[in-house]
This record gives sequence, C-alpha cells and structure tokens, in this order.
Amino acid sequence: MSDGWVDVARTSDIPPGCAARVEIDDTPVAIFNVEGTFYALDDTCSHAEASLSEGDLDADRCVIECPLHGSSFDLRTGEPLSLPAVEPVRVHRVEVTDDGLLRVALADEVTAQ
Ligand code: FES
Repeated sequence: MSDGWVDVARTSDIPPGCAARVEIDDTPVAIFNVEGTFYALDDTCSHAEASLSEGDLDADRCVIECPLHGSSFDLRTGEPLSLPAVEPVRVHRVEVTDDGLLRVALADEVTAQ
C-alpha cells in the first residue's frame, strides 16, 4: 500500500534558486530550492491558470511571485502576500532521502507522520 510519498527528482536536478514542475496523480506541483531547503506547493496559482514554478523566486523572503499577475505566495505556508490572489495554495510535504532523492507527499494524502 502506498504511504502517499512519491519520488519526484534528485536534489541535484533542482539547484538553489531554481524551481521545477512535476505531476503527482495528475496534480501539478512546483518544487523550489531555497538555499538547500526544498518546498513543494500547488503549481497552479490560486487566482488563475498560471504556473508558479515559472515565477520569480525571492529566496531572501522565501516567496514566489506569480508570473501572470504578480501575487506573491509564502513558500512555507502557501498564503498569498499580495493581490490579486486571496486564496492560499496548498503546501505539500517534502523529504530528502539519504541518497539524494526528493520525495513529496500531497497535502491531502499524507497518511504517515
Ligand atoms: S494567475 Fe497568479 S496572480 Fe493571477
């Protein structure tokens, strides 16, 4: 039985300051590397159809700016920090294995702590 965790990439595939888009069970997920810490959020902006992995990553503030209308989202919480987006995006769990694999569990599907 699946525990909800899915291998999505190697850590070396996403260097610091970069992002990648993956799909897990048909859900687009954006993965960001902020100075070695990885975050996974819904890739689709909560405002309209835009891919957050194509936005501007502000590593100092741990924020992604949507490429379409410019709303900023906190990578730690998914909360929008500026208009026009008012709804958060989901934040997914990320772990790095000892051999450098990135694993993600969708927020709705975590079954194990
Ligand atoms: S689509 Fe992201 S702010 Fe409008």
